[in-house]
Amino acid sequence: MKKIAVLGFGTVGSGVVETIDINADVITQRTGGITVKYIVDVRDFPDSPYAALVTKDFSVVENDPEVSIVVETIGGIGVAYDFTKRSLKAGKSVVTSNKELVATYGYELMALAKENGVSYLFEASVGGGVPLLRPLKTCLNGDVIKEIYGILNGTTNYILTQMFQNGVSFAEALATAQALGYSEADPTADVEGHDACRKACILTSLVTGTHITQDKVPAKGISGVALEDVEYAAQLGYTIKLLGRCVFEGGKAYSYVAPHLVSRNELVSGVNGVMNGIVVKGNIVGETMFYGAGAGKMPTASAVVADVTAIATNVRAGECFEWSAPSDVSGDPAELKTKWFVRVRGELEAELAGTADGVSAYVTAEMSEKELQTVLSGAEVVSAYRMIG
Ligand SMILES: NC(=O)c1ccc[n+]([C@@H]2O[C@H](COP(=O)([O-])OP(=O)(O)OC[C@H]3O[C@@H](n4cnc5c(N)ncnc54)[C@H](OP(=O)(O)O)[C@@H]3O)[C@@H](O)[C@H]2O)c1
Repeated sequence: MKKIAVLGFGTVGSGVVETIDINADVITQRTGGITVKYIVDVRDFPDSPYAALVTKDFSVVENDPEVSIVVETIGGIGVAYDFTKRSLKAGKSVVTSNKELVATYGYELMALAKENGVSYLFEASVGGGVPLLRPLKTCLNGDVIKEIYGILNGTTNYILTQMFQNGVSFAEALATAQALGYSEADPTADVEGHDACRKACILTSLVTGTHITQDKVPAKGISGVALEDVEYAAQLGYTIKLLGRCVFEGGKAYSYVAPHLVSRNELVSGVNGVMNGIVVKGNIVGETMFYGAGAGKMPTASAVVADVTAIATNVRAGECFEWSAPSDVSGDPAELKTKWFVRVRGELEAELAGTADGVSAYVTAEMSEKELQTVLSGAEVVSAYRMIG
């Protein structure tokens, strides 16, 4: 029987504790048994059926040799970083859903885990309940990964879907997302692309085997997406999606996050609402897509508990989640060539132009962002999106 502690009894942490209860029978069959010995949180939960397990003192966990696995679902890079390091140093494996921590200190924490003969696993940090990181490193291990792109953030996908399907503005769609609990009170990390950026960093790090820092992955969010863009995209047979994209070419990784016009023929164009959909292109397998609930209490708990069971059955299971300290493998994504959809105030020399309120819209030939900037120099650019498909 493995004893675990759950740090942070919020959305994901409470889902983890409940999952271990709901699926106790099969988890016992598969692992010999997992039981939650402590829940660490800053709050009390007097009405919870798990109230007796709650403590505010992390050192109780740290100093208890019976606890072999710690689940960190606090979030952020403050106390979560401290508790993770202390757990690993105390010889306990750590499982997390905390993408910010993995994207910021992943390599250091993985090295610390290795040094202490334990694991640091984070399947839930990208794609929530969608199995992605482990399949990428196991089922696709015979391939050279050429590209990964997809919808990595459910909140922004919900907002864009609302704009497309119901013709509502960004601000109205954001308000609905907040009312439904899909978006946090401060939506900045989601709408400005920071959350998707952290996930793109994790995916790129996993593929390159070297830690990719957030400053190497430029991120643009969706707050500038206008209903006019949505209308033009629909007329062209496209939709608008916030994509994290990582292209692996010539020994370099080109990663970025930005809203794209995606052809309706592409698989990710049909990924709507809060769902995530990630396309992985390998040189042998071709194109595969991973689809499912990218967030939410139980889907995310599903991935966390799977990591816990992996450790419970094989303490070294974490070895496929591994990369080294940052090194110079990042290329400039501005060099990647795609078609572009641009709207400018006034007219440009181009084949395709529509007009609305003095604004002209164009689809360009394939070109890099740098080449586009040269073409558009002097023009007043209203919006510019890369196109997929
Ligand atoms: N929610 C999702 O669907 C989802 C999906 C994938 C990944 N994630 C990631 O999973 C992590 C947790 O997310 P969440 O949504 O579960 O967050 P949450 O609901 O805010 O839960 C975090 C919990 O940790 C508690 N906490 C804060 N400081 C603490 C401390 N010093 N010691 C112990 N507990 C502390 C919080 O208490 P207070 O509320 O009092 O601060 C809260 O109960 C984040 O990194 C998030 O990005 C979440």
